[in-house]
Amino acid sequence: MESPSQRGLGARIDRFAESLQGRIQDFLLNIETRGTAPSDRHGAVYYATIAYPVIRSVLQRLNLQPDDTFIDVGCGKGRVLCLAARMQVARVIGVEYSPDLARMAERNLALLRGKLAPAEVAVTPAEEFDYSSATALYFFNPFEAEILDLVLGKMHADRGAKPLRLAFVMESPAQEAVFRKHQWLVRADHWVTSAGHTCSIYRNRSS
Ligand SMILES: C[S@@+](CC[C@H](N)C(=O)[O-])C[C@H]1O[C@@H](n2cnc3c(N)ncnc32)[C@H](O)[C@@H]1O
Repeated sequence: MESPSQRGLGARIDRFAESLQGRIQDFLLNIETRGTAPSDRHGAVYYATIAYPVIRSVLQRLNLQPDDTFIDVGCGKGRVLCLAARMQVARVIGVEYSPDLARMAERNLALLRGKLAPAEVAVTPAEEFDYSSATALYFFNPFEAEILDLVLGKMHADRGAKPLRLAFVMESPAQEAVFRKHQWLVRADHWVTSAGHTCSIYRNRSS
């Protein structure tokens, strides 16, 4: 059985390995997405991102197709956008309220190696974005339940019954309750990643 100090050392080694892997992957893609940035908007979660293999596995479960318009809601520095833009999809869009983070995402998209899909960043609060062309969306815990409620309402109003699927990473019980309230969405998949993140895939009932 491991002692507390052995467990502490193990956790430090895991964090170091993850940070090294992020550095290497950023270098290979020619982008800079590491670190954190504070947020100053009501209900917003600060910028942070997750390990490349975890994002790749979530995108795989979203099963992106050539006719998809993929949106990262709260795209931060654009790590997810960059991975999606290297896939065969029709269009990639990042939605970000912070002009500083949006600028970094735009710069990363401009420098990205191996870009296949057209990609852009909309500097706007997610509550105000027009989701009418969205078919596949990614959320990594961008905001609290109250804002999620507004965003899902806007998405439903914009998209109506047209097919849509979305991945939500690191879903809290309060955010889960918001999804339950939005009965036009149905949970199609739910799992915990190797890094311990709770993830769900939702689809609208008509798709
Ligand atoms: C946890 S980070 C996720 C970043 C990115 N999706 C990723 O996985 O690498 C949350 C991001 O959502 C943005 N955000 C928070 N509230 C927002 C809102 N109401 N509208 C648009 N972006 C928002 C934050 O500025 C931050 O960049």
